[in-house]
Amino acid sequence: MPLDQTALLIELEPVVATNLERHLSLAKEWFPHEYVPWSDGRTFDGLLGGEAWLETDSKLPDVARTALIVNLLTEDNLPSYHHEIATLFGRDGAWGTWVHRWTAEEGRHGIALRDYLTVTRAVDPVELERARMTHMQAGYSNDHPDEILHSIAYVAFQELATRISHRNTGKATGDPIAEQLLARVAADENLHMVFYRNLLAAAFDLDPNNAMRAVTDVVSTFQMPGANIEGFGRKALSIALAGIYDLRQHRDEVLQPVLRQWNVLGRTDLSGDGEKARDELAAHMDDLETQAARFEEKREARRLRLAKK
Ligand SMILES: [Fe+2]
Ligand SMILES: [Fe+2]
Repeated sequence: MPLDQTALLIELEPVVATNLERHLSLAKEWFPHEYVPWSDGRTFDGLLGGEAWLETDSKLPDVARTALIVNLLTEDNLPSYHHEIATLFGRDGAWGTWVHRWTAEEGRHGIALRDYLTVTRAVDPVELERARMTHMQAGYSNDHPDEILHSIAYVAFQELATRISHRNTGKATGDPIAEQLLARVAADENLHMVFYRNLLAAAFDLDPNNAMRAVTDVVSTFQMPGANIEGFGRKALSIALAGIYDLRQHRDEVLQPVLRQWNVLGRTDLSGDGEKARDELAAHMDDLETQAARFEEKREARRLRLAKK
């Protein structure tokens, strides 16, 4: 029997409670200030008459800076995400406790990243603040605002995507301090992913056909939460060219492992539209495979071309 949205929330409440407990027992307390090399900092120009930011202040490779900015702006948009999730899941019971806890943890990510970038003069602070204003004023709304299964499926993939992106951004900085910070943030994102992944696994058992449809819809239209950042297309391309987050990783390290956990291909409880959705998903994954291989070929050709110069 397909469940309506309220029935789904009620049915999933004990699963939320169990996974909230699991999350709290595994989540480690950590402090952003410990990850920032404060004594490297210098007062900026303006009110306090310090030194203006210069391009040469940054020790990070260009693409690492781009990725850090995208990751931070994505974290910055938290009020919009909180609004979406709290509106959909509600603020009562285990759902509400989770929503608030999740929000508090995500808030830590933005704080830590901004402190690091500002103190180390890794990016232009004026440009960063202006980009934050532009991005947050655009807000965020998910593609399926009224559909719980779609929203849970989306966040399961999205949390894993941010985990991969943070971790690889850390590596791309070449700075052990940034790498340590981003590995710490990535560990949080992983726990978030597990929470939502377990929740959708339970939803699959409650309502397999609708869960399957939700997953197919989400995978086939997936966009990163920061996709409306100004100049995102250009930024995403350089991030993909650097291997920080590309289609291959999206398919093989984000979509595949989560789909495998839900046993999407092996399920025997699908019928009607659920079966149709699974077929669509399989075709989409094949298509992504072709696209990913094509991108890798082009990237390699580009690398060889640049190496010859
Ligand atoms: Fe985060
Ligand atoms: Fe997260």
